[in-house]
Amino acid sequence: MSGSFSIDGVTVPFTEGQTIMDAALAAKIYIPHLCHNPEFVPQGSCRLCCVSVNDRMVAACTTPAADGLEVANETHEITTQRRLLLKLLFVEGNHVCPACEKSGACQLQAVAYHCGMLAPEFVHFYPKREVDASHPEMIIDFNRCILCELCVRASRDYDGKSVFNISGRGINAHLTVNSPSGKLGDSNFSAHDKAARVCPVGAILPRNHAYETPIGQRLYDQESISQVGDVASHQ
Ligand code: SF4
Ligand code: SF4
Ligand code: FES
Repeated sequence: MSGSFSIDGVTVPFTEGQTIMDAALAAKIYIPHLCHNPEFVPQGSCRLCCVSVNDRMVAACTTPAADGLEVANETHEITTQRRLLLKLLFVEGNHVCPACEKSGACQLQAVAYHCGMLAPEFVHFYPKREVDASHPEMIIDFNRCILCELCVRASRDYDGKSVFNISGRGINAHLTVNSPSGKLGDSNFSAHDKAARVCPVGAILPRNHAYETPIGQRLYDQESISQVGDVASHQ
């Protein structure tokens, strides 16, 4: 089956099996998202990609495209809802952008700019999370993890290693490393793994390569994420 539907009044073609997100990406229409990467099975957890389809809110990354759908993406109400989700993500972790190696190449920061978020506004949780610097090539700063599970899916489905997992629920949910000590250095993770290159934020970072690309020359320093797309597709 193939056909077309509309996003904010623009006609978008689709083919059998595509989701609204797949068709939008192919048509170069940006639907804000964080837990989606077209290389992996969508899981619909961040809810940032929610769009209105015939007046019902659905996740664009998990909803099949269908002929004649009328999708609203960049309305005032939807953008306001996205800003709310983004503000919550910022206060649930410890995000100090000026001190973060990922600044300028971070999807969370870039989507927040795109959605017009100026400040988190809510009370910060200030969770206490230790940095895992046990691996010779990579570090994990759990303070910046947004639980998108892209590293989990990449390690399990692409690398065949299942190095990462999410444990706990709700506010207690957190990323874990499958190794005897729970440390990355005690796992079979490698800097060459797919999972080392999918993190949309500054949670999984290579060691000894900080600031190789100067601030001001990074992916989102010149152009909006709506123009250049996901950081993972540029790595
Ligand atoms: Fe800012 Fe992104 Fe770093 Fe968080 S991960 S501190 S949002 S640049
Ligand atoms: Fe997502 Fe990065 Fe956290 Fe993995 S470490 S769950 S890729 S934010
Ligand atoms: Fe669709 Fe996260 S990108 S729910």
